[in-house]
Amino acid sequence: MAEHGIVIKGGWVIDGTGRDRYRADVAIDDDRIAAIGDLADATADTVIDASGRVVAPGFIDVHTHDDRMLRDASDMTPKVSQGVTTVVAGNCGISLAPFVATERPMEPLDLVGDTSAYRYPTFAAFVDELTRQQPSTNAALLVGHGTLRVSTMDDTQRPATDDEIEVMRGKVGEAMDSGAVGLSTGLEYPPARMSETQEIIRLAEVAGEKGGIYATHMRNYAADARSSMDEAMQIGREARLPVIVSHFHCHTDDNPGICSEALDWYEAAREEQDVIVDAYPYEASSTSILPEFVMKRTKALVTWSKPHPEMNGKYLHEIAEEWDTDVIDAAKRLAPGGAIYFGRDEENVKRLMTHQGVIIGSDGIPMNPHPHPRLWGTFPRVLGHYARDLDLMTMEDAIHRMTGLSAERFGLADRGSVAKGAYADLVVFDPAAIADTATFMEPEQPAAGIDHVFVNGVPVWQAGRHTGAGPGRIVGRRQA
Ligand code: ZN
Ligand code: CU
Repeated sequence: MAEHGIVIKGGWVIDGTGRDRYRADVAIDDDRIAAIGDLADATADTVIDASGRVVAPGFIDVHTHDDRMLRDASDMTPKVSQGVTTVVAGNCGISLAPFVATERPMEPLDLVGDTSAYRYPTFAAFVDELTRQQPSTNAALLVGHGTLRVSTMDDTQRPATDDEIEVMRGKVGEAMDSGAVGLSTGLEYPPARMSETQEIIRLAEVAGEKGGIYATHMRNYAADARSSMDEAMQIGREARLPVIVSHFHCHTDDNPGICSEALDWYEAAREEQDVIVDAYPYEASSTSILPEFVMKRTKALVTWSKPHPEMNGKYLHEIAEEWDTDVIDAAKRLAPGGAIYFGRDEENVKRLMTHQGVIIGSDGIPMNPHPHPRLWGTFPRVLGHYARDLDLMTMEDAIHRMTGLSAERFGLADRGSVAKGAYADLVVFDPAAIADTATFMEPEQPAAGIDHVFVNGVPVWQAGRHTGAGPGRIVGRRQA
């Protein structure tokens, strides 16, 4: 009988800690890394030649909206094809549970699914169903404040009452006890806009008491970004839990200087408390079509529209022209729907991608007729475009902020590193070839240069194809 299940031979190990690569063979037994070193004499059921390749921890996508994909398209191809082995879902205040929808859910809950998608009276019921679906990646789950409000309040366009806050605190507790890793908010969005800071503190307290984190899509990323950040920090301090500021971009059309200032505020906040930010490597964002977003942002590409699906993939200003109207009116007619908003500063994207305190999260929105290319391309784009081609950082540094640092922040024990005894979540890629191929016009393209992806020791992607395996687990703070 062979000594090991799998041995990956002759690769360069980039271990996720940030330290320099080194030559080593890596052995996998069952779901764990069994040995690292010179394993020339070891026997294995499967030997993989990784000469000239990098062997790294599977990437952790810390900001996703993959909740429904985990359940309904559980092969997770947009993710595993780029080397992602764990996703954090439930961001921006949007989680599929706990909520039983009886009519189409309000924006932006509809980004993740429509009425039938929201069918979980408890968070535990959702976790059970995901476990049954056997997704191809691991998942860490956040419970969303927008979902909590919609499922608790008869009218979300006002602050919650004390009674409603108590009910929501109970739901946060149930979610945490069922395996959630924390609470997320989307304070710029309709379900949460009218919530007061105290309401969020009271909910975040429950997550904090149970070892969770607070991830926030802030009230504003433009002119009011400063006060929004102050609010996020206050919530972290008063509820006593770590803060993650989501998709830390700023919208420059309001105030061009604000982007570099925002990084300064972040630097200062880091000195005082436990906070980290995530970002993705593109100059355009993507979210619901909301007239107020159109006013703030410049060019927009329509990705889906419920009333006008024929407009998917067209620019908003072209649609407005075609309809002989202005962009605001066109946006109103296209809603509910989604759009990609251009108008970020490339210099700021570079600053974010190279910053030591920025972890990588795609913010991709799957199961969308015309998704933002970040859904398929985020991680290879950071490594191929920003690290290799532009040479702005080492791959070691970039990988640390996609794996080791991310796992530490989300409390994912024994993940995010190539270490003996760690879970065998691994990606084998060609450092000369790794690249994103998804574009704004052709967004659904698997990355180049990804040779093998393993999740819990099981191959999920090899030679450009999905293996069909579904070894993913719900991971997080409850895991031993
Ligand atoms: Zn968001
Ligand atoms: Cu998001």
